Amino acid sequence: MRKPRKRFALLAITVIAATGALTACSTSGSSDSSSDGGGSGETIKIGLLLPESKTTRYESFDRPLFEDKLTSLGNYEVIYANADQDAAKQQQQAESALTEGVKVLVLDPVDGAAAASIAESAAAQDVPVISYDRLIKSDKVDYYISFDNEQVGVLQGTALVDRLKQDNTTSGLIMINGSPTDANAAEFKKGAHSVIDPSGIPILAEYDTPDWSPDKAQEWAAGQITQFGAEMSGIYAANDGTAGGAIAAVKAAGTEPIPPVTGQDAELAAIQRIVAGDQFMTVYKAIKLEAEKAAEVAHQLAQGDTPSPDTTFQDIPSTLLTPVVVTVDNIQETVIDDGFYTVDEICTAEYADACAAAGLQ
Ligand code: BGC
Repeated sequence: MRKPRKRFALLAITVIAATGALTACSTSGSSDSSSDGGGSGETIKIGLLLPESKTTRYESFDRPLFEDKLTSLGNYEVIYANADQDAAKQQQQAESALTEGVKVLVLDPVDGAAAASIAESAAAQDVPVISYDRLIKSDKVDYYISFDNEQVGVLQGTALVDRLKQDNTTSGLIMINGSPTDANAAEFKKGAHSVIDPSGIPILAEYDTPDWSPDKAQEWAAGQITQFGAEMSGIYAANDGTAGGAIAAVKAAGTEPIPPVTGQDAELAAIQRIVAGDQFMTVYKAIKLEAEKAAEVAHQLAQGDTPSPDTTFQDIPSTLLTPVVVTVDNIQETVIDDGFYTVDEICTAEYADACAAAGLQ
């Protein structure tokens, strides 16, 4: 697969907008803008607002994959901004995008409740809203595209419980959940609890990580290591960023072996930690399918068509994709076979021996 993050450099035209934060990417003027998305050559603007940049998925996958797909469907210009996990900043970015005349707003909210006012402003201007990956808590949402997020938590919880029972290390685990303002975080937590609570493995302590911050996850985990020591035999971490923080805390404390740590996103650093034996598992979500579906639905809404949903979620027409567990045993069959990473990207010199041991070459 061609790597989107490399292609992006060729496509991007950066426009510093009023907030200093919006950028635009367009095929207008290029020789391949031959389809009819914009009608008689007119460029249609679509807003894409993503929540943060500490998690690698947004800039490396969601953004370029969405832009590439949308601009292949017609004469579109993507008005893009990343909120750096600041809800007030996202509100301003949304207002700027609406002022710039976007025809559809694709919004991955920092704060699902606060973003309701963005959806209302958009609706007041007849701009359809796609709730992307995270749910906006508003009845003004036209379409929701995400994964089965409760199932993500079930997969993480099941993998961890099974592993601890298999290793006979069931003294206790800690739970590092996601941001309290992200509706997905509540779903991951609910799914994980549905498996961990009846397992009989004690939950020693639990934390909702503000802003999904890896640093805050690390700081909190360090305190739990001091408090619980060897009693802490497993770590539920809701995503790879918080998993990285937890693993850094364990290493700093010199605890060996590192207890099994869960994750999510199949970030490159997490896959490398899994190969090296530092992280137990992650959850792979095929972001290509998610981003491209969002582009297709944005195209339909921009054309005045009504997209046909695959399902509904809280009465919103929706597409919910299927998450997949990744451990050292199925890296090849998941992220490599799906073209998410090449073996070369994972197996850099530092990981050559571990990759060979894991059968990756
Ligand atoms: C996304 C995860 C991501 C997290 C932090 C969640 O809403 O579904 O993929 O790791 O936010 O950005």
